[in-house]
Amino acid sequence: MANNNLTNAKNAKNDEFYTQYHDIEKEIGAYLEFNPNVFRGKTVLMPCDDPEWSNFTKFFAQNFERFGLKKLISTSYAPESKNYKSDYQPTLFESNDPQFDKDKTVKNGKIFTLTRDKLGDGRIDVNDLEWSYLDGDGDFNSKEIKKLRDESDIIITNPPFSLFRDFLAWIIGAGKQFVVIGNLNAITYKEVFPLIKNDKMWLGNGFHAGNAYFSTPFAKEYAEGVYNKETGLVKFRNCCWFTNLDHGRRHQPLPLMSMEDNLKFSKHKELKGKSSYSHYDNYDAIEVPFTDSIPSDYTGIMAVPISFLDKYCFEQFEILGVTQRNDDPYKTKQYSLADYSNANDLNARGVIIVNGEPKAMYARVLIKMKSL
Ligand SMILES: C[S@@+](CC[C@H](N)C(=O)[O-])C[C@H]1O[C@@H](n2cnc3c(N)ncnc32)[C@H](O)[C@@H]1O
Repeated sequence: MANNNLTNAKNAKNDEFYTQYHDIEKEIGAYLEFNPNVFRGKTVLMPCDDPEWSNFTKFFAQNFERFGLKKLISTSYAPESKNYKSDYQPTLFESNDPQFDKDKTVKNGKIFTLTRDKLGDGRIDVNDLEWSYLDGDGDFNSKEIKKLRDESDIIITNPPFSLFRDFLAWIIGAGKQFVVIGNLNAITYKEVFPLIKNDKMWLGNGFHAGNAYFSTPFAKEYAEGVYNKETGLVKFRNCCWFTNLDHGRRHQPLPLMSMEDNLKFSKHKELKGKSSYSHYDNYDAIEVPFTDSIPSDYTGIMAVPISFLDKYCFEQFEILGVTQRNDDPYKTKQYSLADYSNANDLNARGVIIVNGEPKAMYARVLIKMKSL
């Protein structure tokens, strides 16, 4: 029981992050720039979003006409079902409504739909959202929300991070288009990496300068540097957008220097003045410690940081694998426990020999140049 409570507390902390309006605006702008009709005639579902606080719902409702949407559906999760136990109070908007129900407000999720100019003021916007209680608690995995998913064309949200794997499977299984926020480290998951490798999913346009800001009831628990007292927001460097909607940035090739020029002129001390790039001991691959140091003229396998995916251009590179997984075919060597007490760790990672000793490296994406 104590353990359950701990897990719930941890999950609650992972799940309650509210996305900023301008981050959504910037990201969605990139898809519209690539294809101005990307949302035209579409039904968009936001399955973790109460318009009272979800900027996703507000942003899409305010732009309903400009985007040419057919229908916007936004559902919220019942307060009683959340891992995060708050001192929940219904809003005046809800409690003043004739359909208000004091039991349902805590036990049931809600559904908000936008299809028409309900108020008759000549425009469709957030004030035209119509709502009712769901039969269930709004769990995205429930039959009720699955039905909404099946009638939608595009799923857009920041889902609960503790359920990211399930959430992505829920979308992919239904073959839907999507734009969702997640943690960059998720790319090493066995359910996620094949989607990236096979170009079924890619990183979105991205947060400004790679900084994702969220509001969260747990903001003050974060250290200085993550929590900003002035804004009340937390900042994360490892959050990204995952999508299968096309955008322009992913078709822009990275400008690169040759291997010789990198070794002579690189701005990174790890490379400048060295005679060569390090070679892996258990992969036939060179170590490229920074994305901007990928040599333009190397034809073999290169192991690059996973943040490379933010700059990945499908036309320029081929993705082969990721070192954190045991099942990739590019591994050339296994370490035995008889020789190395940390053999299990070494076998699960890319390894470089440093001062005669094997050193396990961070997760790396294995890539090859396409155009050569
Ligand atoms: C990361 S927050 C993001 C909220 C909103 N999409 C945004 O970006 O501001 C995820 C929300 O999903 C809710 N949630 C947790 N589990 C859920 C589930 N199984 N089904 C639907 N929503 C869930 C959480 O309580 C939380 O409010």
